[in-house]
Amino acid sequence: MAKILITGAAGFIGSHTTDLLLSEGHTVVGVDNFRSGHRRNLAAALTSAAFRLVEADVSAESVLAQLVATETPDAIIHLAALVSVQDSMENPELNYRLNVLATHRVAEAARESGVKRLVFASSAAVYGDATELPIREASTTRPISPYGGAKLASEALLLAHGAAFGSVVRCQRYFNVFGPRQDPASPYSGVISIFAQRFRDGQGVTIFGDGQQTRDFISVHDVARANALAATGEGVASGIANICTGRSTSLLEVAAVFGRHYPAATAPTLAPPRPGDIIHSRGDATRAGQELGFTARWPVDEGLAELIKLG
Ligand SMILES: NC(=O)c1ccc[n+]([C@@H]2O[C@H](COP(=O)([O-])OP(=O)(O)OC[C@H]3O[C@@H](n4cnc5c(N)ncnc54)[C@H](O)[C@@H]3O)[C@@H](O)[C@H]2O)c1
Repeated sequence: MAKILITGAAGFIGSHTTDLLLSEGHTVVGVDNFRSGHRRNLAAALTSAAFRLVEADVSAESVLAQLVATETPDAIIHLAALVSVQDSMENPELNYRLNVLATHRVAEAARESGVKRLVFASSAAVYGDATELPIREASTTRPISPYGGAKLASEALLLAHGAAFGSVVRCQRYFNVFGPRQDPASPYSGVISIFAQRFRDGQGVTIFGDGQQTRDFISVHDVARANALAATGEGVASGIANICTGRSTSLLEVAAVFGRHYPAATAPTLAPPRPGDIIHSRGDATRAGQELGFTARWPVDEGLAELIKLG
């Protein structure tokens, strides 16, 4: 069994990754400053003797290095970030601190304490406005936000760290993650958590555009499993992989699933498309299968049904 340090453990993806690793018998040290995460997400984990939560800012000088030196984890999963693309547009300096400098702190902490495996929460945002579908890891990376730029820069920093100091570095390019504990208040949260809240509250939903735009929606349970495989899997080598399903679902299809569960709900309202909105996004899932043994298992409608059941 391994000891894993997770930055951003109180967040959406971090808390599910923590729960999964604990259920597999690993020890987890969670680090979070509760900027966008919540202690309540870790309610189950906090009852486990194999879990420790540390409140700290991973971008602060020497804080993470000291913690890693004390804990000596086998792997670090670095999820803490400024997660809102919009925030990164409004405050590129903060984006630099939370999404680039913090990654450098992780790499340095790992180097100083000899941590041999690093897993990084990258994003499909590194591809920007990709024109070729499906999006492959070899597709052109042309980020169109400071957030996407910082994710790409972080990948380069970490992969160079791995090459220089002999650690395994996995960069996980998540597509559109959805599931329980996603905060609908966050502008980055995406359409599914907003739909879930509005249908639950009996409010209508608005779709910008004709609703035919598609996304590669992946359940947070699958993402947590991809993180666990990257952090603890046998024979895993450094690399970059899309964490996606390889399937596309339109917003109208998502709304239709909600509509079936809420038959009294009003039909979605269509509004003019928002400038800059990407029409289609779908990843090629092959590489994660080859390099991590990861294949997404949750069909979108089952993930939506789970969300709706939880209320
Ligand atoms: N949700 C998605 O669809 C998606 C897609 C692509 C990439 N990602 C990436 O996955 C990671 C997790 O995202 P999420 O959706 O779980 O978001 P989230 O906001 O729920 O989780 C981020 C966590 O990091 C913590 N945090 C932020 N800055 C910190 C700091 N300086 N020190 C300590 N803790 C800090 C927050 O409090 C929060 O708990 C992020 O790196 C994000 O960019 C998410």
